[in-house]
Amino acid sequence: MSEVLDERREDGILLLRINRPEAKNALNQEVRRLLAELCSAAATDDTVKVVVITGNDAAFAAGADIKAMAEATPIELMLRRNHEQWQAIARCPKPVIAAVNGYALGGGCELAMHADIIIAGENATFGQPEVRVGIMPGAGGTQRLTRAVGKFKAMLYCLTGQTFTGREAFEMGLASKVVPDAEVLDAALEIAATIAKMPPLAIHQIKEVMLAGADAPLETALMLERKAFQMLFDSADQKEGMRAFLEKRKPSYRGS
Ligand code: HXC
Repeated sequence: MSEVLDERREDGILLLRINRPEAKNALNQEVRRLLAELCSAAATDDTVKVVVITGNDAAFAAGADIKAMAEATPIELMLRRNHEQWQAIARCPKPVIAAVNGYALGGGCELAMHADIIIAGENATFGQPEVRVGIMPGAGGTQRLTRAVGKFKAMLYCLTGQTFTGREAFEMGLASKVVPDAEVLDAALEIAATIAKMPPLAIHQIKEVMLAGADAPLETALMLERKAFQMLFDSADQKEGMRAFLEKRKPSYRGS
């Protein structure tokens, strides 16, 4: 059976389930390859509106696969070109939601942080414990965690490897929402369904401007926002959305 199960749902949601329960969903080369390939395909597939990435009850992903890494040389790591696979996820123009139960450690926590929205089970276990196996985060953990929760908490977690719960992740601003463990996937799918009904061009612009603007000077970021805002007035969906409001009816969006 595939190590990432992909389910295309009728409501425009692509559900990706990491499927290595015997290894707590550790990210081996095959899982990374499949996640990258499926996210790249979703990018150009108009029928996919939102991507949801999840694991199982025990693990979202317990990190990069230590067995596949333990004896690697720097050149072998370089030749794996893993950063390109991570970029395929980061650059997916469709909203990506991580539905996290169980362990989200190391590369698993970093995978969740590649998403745009994180739904956490209250007992999920997040962390960047790489330091405990002699290394450090290598897929954005030092940077994305810092940007999400601030330097002092991120330093604490990266330097000690100490974990934190889904509820703590929410309280720190890492998770968008915390729910009882059994409700994580349903909550993620509900949010995905809401987004999938929105006008696709507006969704695309919101995501692009928010991500690009976050790393740009404020004036530049505000200009990006202004340009994208103005450009949306060239879309049929803008006319439809506003006319529907004025005519007191539901809009019907076409993605054009
Ligand atoms: C390979 C892993 C794994 C991992 C778990 N397993 N995590 N295999 N890589 N990251 C395997 C175990 O070896 C074991 O296999 C099986 O999954 C079940 O795990 P147990 O340890 O028996 O389960 P449990 O006692 O419940 O503990 C769960 C756990 C622990 C807390 C998640 O497995 C753990 O600490 N895992 C490592 C977490 C970690 O350090 N992650 C960061 C990795 S470095 P067997 O064959 O014995 O049954 C990293 C770098 C990222 O992510 C760089 C960029 C990508």
